[in-house]
Amino acid sequence: MSNVDTLFRPAELGKLNLKNRIVMAPMTRTYSPGNVPNDLVVDYYRRRAAGGVGLIITEGTFVGHKAASGYPNVPAFAGNDALAGWKRVVDAVHAEGGKIAPQLWHVGAIRRPGVMPGGDTPGHSPSGMVAPGKVTGHAMTQDDIDDVVAAFAQAAADAKDVGFDAIELHGAHGYLIDQFFWDGTNQRDDSYGGDLAARSKFALEVVAACRAAVGEDFPIIFRFSQWKQQDYTARLCETPEALSDFLGPLCDAGVDIFHCSTRRFWEPEFEGSDLNLAGWTRKLTGKPAITVGSVGLNADFLPEDGSANFNAAEPASIDNLITRLEQDEFDLVAVGRALIANPEWANQVADGNFEKLAAYEKEMLKELK
Ligand SMILES: Cc1cc2nc3c(=O)[nH]c(=O)nc-3n(C[C@H](O)[C@H](O)[C@H](O)COP(=O)(O)O)c2cc1C
Repeated sequence: MSNVDTLFRPAELGKLNLKNRIVMAPMTRTYSPGNVPNDLVVDYYRRRAAGGVGLIITEGTFVGHKAASGYPNVPAFAGNDALAGWKRVVDAVHAEGGKIAPQLWHVGAIRRPGVMPGGDTPGHSPSGMVAPGKVTGHAMTQDDIDDVVAAFAQAAADAKDVGFDAIELHGAHGYLIDQFFWDGTNQRDDSYGGDLAARSKFALEVVAACRAAVGEDFPIIFRFSQWKQQDYTARLCETPEALSDFLGPLCDAGVDIFHCSTRRFWEPEFEGSDLNLAGWTRKLTGKPAITVGSVGLNADFLPEDGSANFNAAEPASIDNLITRLEQDEFDLVAVGRALIANPEWANQVADGNFEKLAAYEKEMLKELK
């Protein structure tokens, strides 16, 4: 078996220095009544920091726009009460020696009207579509776009003021930024629609506005994915050249680190190479990259639909991951469900206690521990 020490090498990523390579993946938990992170939420993140995670990326937290929120009891990233709650989370994580970034989120057309805040405000998206051909919401005007860009920039500035160590912009999984990227949901005929370069205009405006809001030295992480929750087989880029053309402008706009969301980290992104999406991203941009997808879970137990019920950490899976990390395919490794099951995942892996790791079960989402 490979040496797990590789996971515990410090990471010096320019603007962001971390004690190890382990990142907590952003995971929506809906335990913030009134959209304010409370004691339960503070303790949830504190426990993962105490458990050895180098960088926590919070659950998606919605920016200050009337249609940004999609689900009940998701924490806001706007307003004094929510920001004060987040400050308590930040202080708790720092006290345990961890670092933390909020995942700034706008759900776009995935919004369910009725969810507070925003009440009956419909979902906002490039063409009003939640999926190809399925119009459920409002096609954004230029004023709407400007409002949302400003809301992201305000959230970025607030994150820095509150004491976060970085921000992550949620550009993945078929939410608003990705609804602009994806031709399935972006059928605009203005400058925000067209080829992928044009469909990236909204994201580039968001990144540039956040960069202007936080200054040059504050790290901006950008999460993107080929897959969409509306369609696991969807792809933005079919070739390394297309991926390079897609990522270059995001780098120029101010992204420091890419978080490359895949469902299985060992899957090659393009034919002819074993590199995964993070591997290609790092190679093409020269920027640090975070990999993610079924780390610490047993591949043999992954159902085809990618839903829950994985087995506990398997040495074989960790082996493959560490070999790739040793080869500098990527810089950081995000862990999601294994960290829900095991707040102490990082420390247990450091100590080689694989037999002590609990298997993830969907039932575990029924409480915040
Ligand atoms: C309960 C749950 C909630 C999630 N919420 C988010 C989210 O808010 N933002 C996001 O980008 N990804 C979200 N994800 C995806 C995870 O960040 C991660 O990419 C995915 O779970 C794969 O990692 P894993 O196999 O280690 O769990 C969520 C996943 C789970 C299981």
